[in-house]
Amino acid sequence: MEAEAHYDYLVAVIGAGPAGLYAAKQLASHGVYVVLINRDIKPGGLAEYGIYHSKHKMKAGLRKQFRGILQAPNIEYYGNLVVGDKGDFTLKQLEALGFQAVIVTAGAQGTKWLGLPGEDLLGVYHAKDIVYHYNKLPPFSQKQFAIGKHVAIIGVGNVMLDIARWLIRDVKVEQVTAVARRGPAEVKFTKKEMESVARNLDLEALDEEMERVAPRMRAVGQDPGEARQFILSALEKAYDPVSDTRFTFDFLASPSRMLGSERGEVRGLEVEDTELVPKNGDTKANRLGTKRTLPVETVIFCIGDKVDEDFGLPVRWNEFVKHPEPRFPVGGNSYEAYDPEGEKAIEGVFVAGWSREASSGLVGVARKDGESGAQAVLQYLDGKSPMTEMGKFLEGFRQRLANLDKHVVTKPEWEMLENQEQAEADRLGLDEFKYASNEEMLAVIERANLQPAD
Ligand SMILES: Cc1cc2nc3c(=O)[nH]c(=O)nc-3n(C[C@H](O)[C@H](O)[C@H](O)COP(=O)(O)OP(=O)(O)OC[C@H]3O[C@@H](n4cnc5c(N)ncnc54)[C@H](O)[C@@H]3O)c2cc1C
Ligand SMILES: NC(=O)c1ccc[n+]([C@@H]2O[C@H](COP(=O)([O-])OP(=O)(O)OC[C@H]3O[C@@H](n4cnc5c(N)ncnc54)[C@H](OP(=O)(O)O)[C@@H]3O)[C@@H](O)[C@H]2O)c1
Repeated sequence: MEAEAHYDYLVAVIGAGPAGLYAAKQLASHGVYVVLINRDIKPGGLAEYGIYHSKHKMKAGLRKQFRGILQAPNIEYYGNLVVGDKGDFTLKQLEALGFQAVIVTAGAQGTKWLGLPGEDLLGVYHAKDIVYHYNKLPPFSQKQFAIGKHVAIIGVGNVMLDIARWLIRDVKVEQVTAVARRGPAEVKFTKKEMESVARNLDLEALDEEMERVAPRMRAVGQDPGEARQFILSALEKAYDPVSDTRFTFDFLASPSRMLGSERGEVRGLEVEDTELVPKNGDTKANRLGTKRTLPVETVIFCIGDKVDEDFGLPVRWNEFVKHPEPRFPVGGNSYEAYDPEGEKAIEGVFVAGWSREASSGLVGVARKDGESGAQAVLQYLDGKSPMTEMGKFLEGFRQRLANLDKHVVTKPEWEMLENQEQAEADRLGLDEFKYASNEEMLAVIERANLQPAD
């Protein structure tokens, strides 16, 4: 008898980032049989392909946890398999196959375009694409990015600092300017992340900038000295600089358009000055109508992402729509997908992690959200009859995967690939080695599959 015959419930988890992996773990530990489907060949999501590439210890620790989760006999893993309107299966096809519930933990894969003139110019990018590039996620790993001497990076969160770090410590451009629509008191980055680039700050320029925006800060009761001190507090434990890159800030400036050369390359970022307006205990940026142009050759938006609009679920405000009156709430949150036109739940479909709240929080937050999403699924399954003939169902599902016109990567194949990458890293004396294209990864797997078993 197949192992799966011992399980009563069958759930598909879509996306093997931290949210999906921990959702799978939670479901599996409650006796559910889980089919974990992942777009990328390897699991990990942004923990593998987002977290800064030189944070080897953190990434190795997370990989170890993920390997542990995937050891569970009642979690099947399929990498290189995309769900969505343009994917290998649509969400509806997957539901129709007969999974008792589906939990979508596919992260926030869409791009938050602001609709500004010049967004299509060469040299205008979104952070996720660059982050995927330097973390070697195919196909971004193979794309070329036109990085000029002076780069404007928009937004002042930790993603901005990761991009600044790459530009300052890896690419070594001449100048990086972080552009913030609000002021120095509203930066969202942490002191720890600022340490990697603080020694490249142009301190004179920072003081001039603080002086320039101080009246607008004081107008809403903010202390410019305190905000300056926070930025400079990173200097104490700052990394030694490795380039002469000047790192500057441009506060209270909201991007309004990108200006291009005749050849369609970005040559300037036009910003509109803003003032701060108090709003619900926070502030909001109010455009003032005066505009300036920063002469830059690259613009990188680091303003968060949105979910994939082609996934097959309704989207509102960058996120999949959740049931406003959840039947299975966890911690006061709704994890149930919702059809706002039909005003009803999308039966059996749940969302968690960055698919529930786009670009929100660290790995630990995504982990907790995946676990909570799984709790919501368990509540839902509580009222359902156990699945009969799970073995037969899974056999049919595996056959469908085998009939696809592509190589879907199984758990043993992914383990072999990881071991092979580790062996390459050891051989080359590197902290990490990654094959840069899906073709290379699949060739390694296919070669190993051809080897006779011992
Ligand atoms: C640049 C950057 C740096 C970060 N650095 C840190 C850090 O240093 N420390 C920290 O704690 N947190 C960090 N974070 C945050 C952390 O990475 C996220 O909190 C976490 O990864 C979100 O988990 P998730 O599972 O919801 O989504 P993701 O990690 O995005 O995982 C989504 C998964 O879904 C899969 N998928 C996507 N679409 C489909 C589809 N259509 N079909 C099937 N599968 C699909 C993807 O292959 C991926 O495996 C960083 C985030 C970013 C963007
Ligand atoms: N090393 C790490 O630990 C690490 C690294 C990377 C990411 N992360 C985590 O991942 C999550 C996402 O990070 P993030 O940096 O993408 O998000 P974030 O912290 O929310 O920062 C986004 C920035 O973009 C700005 N922004 C948003 N919309 C804008 C618009 N329309 N025009 C101009 N500016 C706009 C925001 O300004 P407003 O404040 O004015 O909205 C903010 O400064 C966070 O939880 C972060 O901590 C952690």
